[in-house]
Amino acid sequence: TRPVNIAELRRMRAAGEKIACLTCYDASFALIEDRAGVDIVLIGDSLGMVIHGSRTTTAVTVDDIVYHSKCVAPHLQRAFLMADLPFLSYATLERALDASQRVMQEGGAKMVKLEGGREQAAIVEYLAVRGVPVCAHLGLQPQFVHKMGTFKVQGRDDAAAETMLHDARVLADAGADLLLLECIPAALGQRIAAASPVPVIGIGAGREVDGQILVLHDILHISPMVTLGRTPRFVKNYMAGAADIESAIRAYVQEVKSGAYPAPEHCFDVTPPSVAARQP
Ligand code: KIV
Ligand code: NA
Repeated sequence: TRPVNIAELRRMRAAGEKIACLTCYDASFALIEDRAGVDIVLIGDSLGMVIHGSRTTTAVTVDDIVYHSKCVAPHLQRAFLMADLPFLSYATLERALDASQRVMQEGGAKMVKLEGGREQAAIVEYLAVRGVPVCAHLGLQPQFVHKMGTFKVQGRDDAAAETMLHDARVLADAGADLLLLECIPAALGQRIAAASPVPVIGIGAGREVDGQILVLHDILHISPMVTLGRTPRFVKNYMAGAADIESAIRAYVQEVKSGAYPAPEHCFDVTPPSVAARQP
């Protein structure tokens, strides 16, 4: 099995093969996710919530990301390893470069992910021209929770949608190799993916994007959000009916590949097809 790389992600996109992505934080799950065919494994700062039990991701440090990357990286034979740059670790060009150096050289990540729109373009370019592959995370940006006050669907009005479309273009032009869209109307996800020169991964961004990503503990139905009854709309419980964890993760990968996930009930601002419309 050839390891997934940036060129392979571009090829998959061009061939219309959906990219299946999942977060991971330790060796046991790394081995299973890799074997189950996950294309991109993310060391998400969601670890602040699902591992540390914080209410937000903002307390996560570069040390945390490096630690979990080190737990995961040696156990991936095929999957591509992406790591989040945590809150404020890319507040300046130098800090962004330092943090990227650590997660790549110490942690073994092959790409970094950072949150924000066109205001991050200078940082994306600074990293990209130095050989750091960057994924730009648009839409709902959990690191902005204290500034926003809530987590809510983004890009719902026309002005916000146009801004996001433009931001996506600016970030790709700055050298981002991947875009990630979180919690936006499905139609906007489709527009951004159609206009993007690079692959676009979604979480709650509809089905018309190039791939999907979810949090491991959410699909296994054990994350605090699920346990405390605040399951996000885009989450699907893959343990339901699964014989074991590996089967659950395989089912997720297979449903991303086939397009069965996400269904309309996992997307924002989609009217499900009526029962009549689905009958032959
Ligand atoms: O931290 C994370 O897990 C993420 C994904 C949910 C996209 O950023
Ligand atoms: Na994250």
